[in-house]
Amino acid sequence: MATVTQSPEQSTPPLAAVAGSAMLPQPCILVIFGAAGDLSWRKLIPAVYNLNVDGVLPASFAIVGFGLGSEGDPDEWLRARAKEGIEKFSRQPLDEGHWADFARCLFYVEGSFNDLRAYQVLKEKLAAVDAEFGIPGSRVFYLSIPPQVVQPAVEQLRAADLVNPADDVHGFTRVIVEKPIGRDLESARQVNSAVAHAFEESQTYRIDHYLGKETVQNLMVLRFANSIFEPLWNQKYIDHVQITVAEEEGLTQYDPQTGEPTASRIGYYEGVGALRDMVQNHMLQVLCLTAMEPPYSLEPDVVRDGKIGVLKCLRPIADGEVESCVVRAQYIDGEVEGHRVPNYRHEVIDYFSRRNQPIPPNITTETFVAMRLYIDNWRWAGVPFYLRTGKRLPKRASEVAIQFKDVPNILFNQHPDVPLEPTVLSIRVQPEEGLSLRLASKLPGPKVRIYPVKMEFNYSSLFGGSSPEAYERLLLDVMAGDATLFMRRDAVEAAWQFVMPILDHWENSRSRFLPQYQAGTWGPLEADRLIQGDHRSWRTL
Ligand code: BG6
Repeated sequence: MATVTQSPEQSTPPLAAVAGSAMLPQPCILVIFGAAGDLSWRKLIPAVYNLNVDGVLPASFAIVGFGLGSEGDPDEWLRARAKEGIEKFSRQPLDEGHWADFARCLFYVEGSFNDLRAYQVLKEKLAAVDAEFGIPGSRVFYLSIPPQVVQPAVEQLRAADLVNPADDVHGFTRVIVEKPIGRDLESARQVNSAVAHAFEESQTYRIDHYLGKETVQNLMVLRFANSIFEPLWNQKYIDHVQITVAEEEGLTQYDPQTGEPTASRIGYYEGVGALRDMVQNHMLQVLCLTAMEPPYSLEPDVVRDGKIGVLKCLRPIADGEVESCVVRAQYIDGEVEGHRVPNYRHEVIDYFSRRNQPIPPNITTETFVAMRLYIDNWRWAGVPFYLRTGKRLPKRASEVAIQFKDVPNILFNQHPDVPLEPTVLSIRVQPEEGLSLRLASKLPGPKVRIYPVKMEFNYSSLFGGSSPEAYERLLLDVMAGDATLFMRRDAVEAAWQFVMPILDHWENSRSRFLPQYQAGTWGPLEADRLIQGDHRSWRTL
């Protein structure tokens, strides 16, 4: 195996120095709606803690959580919960010195998102925190709340006079909208319209955390900072592209000793499914970065125009084609990492029965999707893109694989029974972030024997340590006012437009056969048939 070795000292300056946002994060209060929730606990607060440890937060900064669920003193309650979240999930371990400094910036206001009085209390708290920390009235509202609450929340923010105009010189107001943005095109439009009623598009940051992952950002660098790829990046040289996001986690986690559920996402996931949860957003965004035309600059809207160019060229999948282009499936019981795990259906029934809530009548939510799609433009004409994602697959592994066309059947590729392995560029999104290029090479010896070798680049072995979490980068970008890595309204709606015929087809065929796959396997046979029918196969990860 050949290894590309390059020390960071030899490398060109870091991206931020040559091309990234030159803007600095500005003093502000980060107001987290739904601060009692899972995302805030696992991701957002640990991300800000890491920014604090790294010393990159603005000089004047505080977090005010807003939502339900506190006990006793609200500020102390949030601090205790934040500390627990950091201890469990932070990239860098909790350090008591940093923690003491961080904890004094954390506050909580308890209230309902529908209640205008709660917003008045929030407003008073924000003014008090501004005064204490010398913050000039600038706020980032992070809406980590279900889509149905977004509309009342933004209406109340406006009614409470908490939204400054975009051109306000005294303090900025920005809003971060979490996925899912709607559950279909219609509801996404409603959410977007409600947000647009209170905030201008330039104040709106629709977050897709995949765009904050180092390896996903590296897609553009790889393509446009190296001269060797762009000439080959088209239908003339590329046979097909595979994008995989595999997760070994299911929708419920169990205590390995007692077998009792310890956490579950069924309440959110049931009725949503993998197409809405992963494909409509993360996977289509990764596809856009893989397939976009070179933008003429790195200005946020130029990059975002480039991405939407891909979504606009996606060949619509007509109702009659869904069955042949898209496979959905649900996991049944099996074994993952040596542990027996139950089937999805059982998890749903258990979840709702434990809460004395009605059990959904048809549990046909897909936990796996595989599909073939085409981008109808000159660059990609005729090149299939295969997407696959699923829960309870054998391991966590995400990659973009570019498979180049076979060499002609002459010289070293003359024997139809032993064809040469194709050249593949594999971009590992996670874990083991990096990339590898598989090439054919001669085995040493008197005979000409060809052996596939890999050139490898691995982030951790070259740069060491752990890459910043996606949320760290994205939160800093919002504080700096850089929208490049956020989704514009038109992109969200274009992505919904593409998946709608598939969702509609499934909705209208609820009773039809839903393929299943055993937990701990790579999905149903139908997914294999989808790609084998094209004389190709899924990559082994
Ligand atoms: C979330 C989905 O957006 O992304 C989850 O709702 C999924 O279902 C998660 O597990 C995957 O993110 P990551 O960063 O762990 O790959």
